[in-house]
Amino acid sequence: MAFSIGLLGLGTVGTGTAKILLDPSGRHPLLQEIKIKRVGVRSLTKPRQVQLPQEVLTTDLEAIVTDPEIEIVVELLGGLEPARSLILQAIAFGKHVVTANKAVIARYGDEIFTAANKAGVYVLLEAAVGGGIPVIEPLKQSLGANRIQSVMGIVNGTTNYILTQMTQKGADFQAVLTAAQKLGYAEADPTADVDGLDAADKIAILASLAFGGRVKREDVYTEGIRGVSAVDINYADKLGFVIKLLAIAQKTQSNNSLQLRVHPTLLTKTHPLASINGVDNAILIAGEPLGQVMFFGPGAGAGPTASAVVADIMNIVGVLISCGKTATLDPLLSCSPQDYCDITPMDELVTRFYVRFLCRDVPGVMGHLGTSFGNYHVSLASVVQIGFQEELAEIVVVTHNVKEGDFRQALAEIGNLKAIATIPSVLRVL
Ligand code: HSE
Repeated sequence: MAFSIGLLGLGTVGTGTAKILLDPSGRHPLLQEIKIKRVGVRSLTKPRQVQLPQEVLTTDLEAIVTDPEIEIVVELLGGLEPARSLILQAIAFGKHVVTANKAVIARYGDEIFTAANKAGVYVLLEAAVGGGIPVIEPLKQSLGANRIQSVMGIVNGTTNYILTQMTQKGADFQAVLTAAQKLGYAEADPTADVDGLDAADKIAILASLAFGGRVKREDVYTEGIRGVSAVDINYADKLGFVIKLLAIAQKTQSNNSLQLRVHPTLLTKTHPLASINGVDNAILIAGEPLGQVMFFGPGAGAGPTASAVVADIMNIVGVLISCGKTATLDPLLSCSPQDYCDITPMDELVTRFYVRFLCRDVPGVMGHLGTSFGNYHVSLASVVQIGFQEELAEIVVVTHNVKEGDFRQALAEIGNLKAIATIPSVLRVL
């Protein structure tokens, strides 16, 4: 039995996917049943790193999603349009879809999964989060017996690379970003990565799967790493922490609402995510009765991402072989949440904070700081004054757990104190 697929896009991941499908020997035998029928590209003449017959290539992407012989459309274009429209068109024409497109799924997942469920087709997206790391399927299947309490991770390789370099070399953000761009580890336009948008797309997807509810992309509180300085990384190190860009989806115990946030975070050096360095990704999932499990590996790249794409294609082919083409959707593979998750407002978040102040070196500063924090129930875990920046004294405070709204009020009061020159950094501590 042969199954025909149409690939939309022959860039890095498309090429990696085609290479696996054209070279099935030694891999799962199902791969021998999968044939690439058409590949949609922008240019027919561009030199390619994979050998495909010229007649397979086309610039007519619609012809692929409407081709009656194609059963699975693999969308690897990236970007919002035409990817979203082509996915919806493929679904309308009864095709199953495999996609690596986190931006489209995070924003248009509702529309896409509603259409897919109505049409009785699968939309699988293992490659959209964590590249080659299998995390979507475990959340749908292997961890299904658990009440998930939290999903948190390092899901953006570019920012993890930059923070790792800043930590290891003591260099500033801009210098490391420029070097990373030269080496091809960061995009020419790094916005989606360094401002946390890519990580926010990914945690929106993971949260929806882990907590069985729809998630609005705009509900993810998002802070990137542009404001993280070498000075803070150095202080964090002295206090026993590393700084990582974490994407967090966590149940708030008091009211069962969901925290959804991406921000630089101080982690104790013994935390399982603290040692994930370079471009690698890791996702830590806590559930009852499981406890904790961590998924670690390459979060991007042609081979790893293609490995996830091909796994999805195989899953669909497996179902088509065992159940036939008109079967009801397998609830363990499809996505059908109806209700939206109730989101914890950031002011209600209970967390610890790291804050760095630059103060005029006058008597009584510590007393004023302590009084203002105390006024808003902020309890301090540590206060250090080590260095000076020119004539200003640098004071670093780490709090105990506090409601974010209370902490912000205290900070506003402290910002108005005459002795405080600036508050250069405020970071959350896990
Ligand atoms: N830009 C992403 C990252 C890879 O840096 O991790 C694709 O998701």
